[in-house]
Amino acid sequence: MPTHPCPSTERLRALPKAEVHAHLEGCFEAAVLEQWAQQAGVPMPRPRECLFAFEGLADFLHFLDWACGLASTRQRLAELSYGYSKRLADGGAGYADLIFNPTHWPAWHGRLPEMIDAIDAGLRAAEQDGLPPVGLCVSLLRTQSADAAAELVDALVALRHPRVVALSVDGNEAAAGRTGPRFAQAFQRAGAAGLRRTVHAGESSGPEGVRDAIELLGADRIDHGVRAIEDPDLVALLVDRQIPLGICPTSNLKLAVYARIEDHPVDRLRRAGAVVSLNTDDPVLLGASLVGEYALCAQAFGWSDDDLRALARHSIDASFANADIKAGLVQALANW
Ligand code: ADE
Ligand code: ZN
Repeated sequence: MPTHPCPSTERLRALPKAEVHAHLEGCFEAAVLEQWAQQAGVPMPRPRECLFAFEGLADFLHFLDWACGLASTRQRLAELSYGYSKRLADGGAGYADLIFNPTHWPAWHGRLPEMIDAIDAGLRAAEQDGLPPVGLCVSLLRTQSADAAAELVDALVALRHPRVVALSVDGNEAAAGRTGPRFAQAFQRAGAAGLRRTVHAGESSGPEGVRDAIELLGADRIDHGVRAIEDPDLVALLVDRQIPLGICPTSNLKLAVYARIEDHPVDRLRRAGAVVSLNTDDPVLLGASLVGEYALCAQAFGWSDDDLRALARHSIDASFANADIKAGLVQALANW
């Protein structure tokens, strides 16, 4: 039951924060996709007005392959990356970890260094224009093989690109089954090479996916993780180890994990002592903004300014930003 008036959009925008769970694949504008599709002579899967009407996660992931297939040039990739930084600044965030999954981008298959270079060019241009810094999390798809995972880690370790902060895994756990053992070695090697580890779990899997992420993949952070709420022992483990959850309420509503915000466990997880942050997941495709996520939850759960400050602090602490960026954001937060 709400006990505090919802803060204004401007005040939520001014809240110093980070974003720790967003995908480059989720940043396409419908009008741009339509234009690219026309130029390439590729049919649209649906009319522009309902292009982003998804039936669930499987349909959504299939759409990503179509959309990313149109981003075939360095300039398109750089502009898309710049656009994400711009959106981040609009949401009042001072840093983000941005996930991209090379499997969705057919034009770039076999050209990972060039792909990272193109994204980096867009993010560098954004920083030069005063937009916030962004680190990259390079993602495996849940349905890939152990060999493919080893190959990606080999490539990242050889490249040692300063923009890349983490290895990630995303995709559909419901389609892939329990794949913790399949990816354990790749994640172990990534960790040993100094990469952080972030794992999608507890969205299309139940609590067992979150437990595997912790015990088999050594996750520094869980993307979503919301279905951990179904296992009180697991919630206790997350609290005990203070493993952060990058939660995306609008995404969970749009992709039918929960029917109503009132049913969403973000507030129960927070109250239990879990380290939770609010994020957009796939901001444009799912119609989510960072300020909108804070407003949605503040309204639904009656969060106070202190609650919002704690959420923002979690987002900063959970990020893979360097110590200077974190210290600057924490200082700014003290003045909010
Ligand atoms: N890739 C992009 N968005 C995703 C999500 N919500 N779950 C799994 N994989 C994704
Ligand atoms: Zn995600």
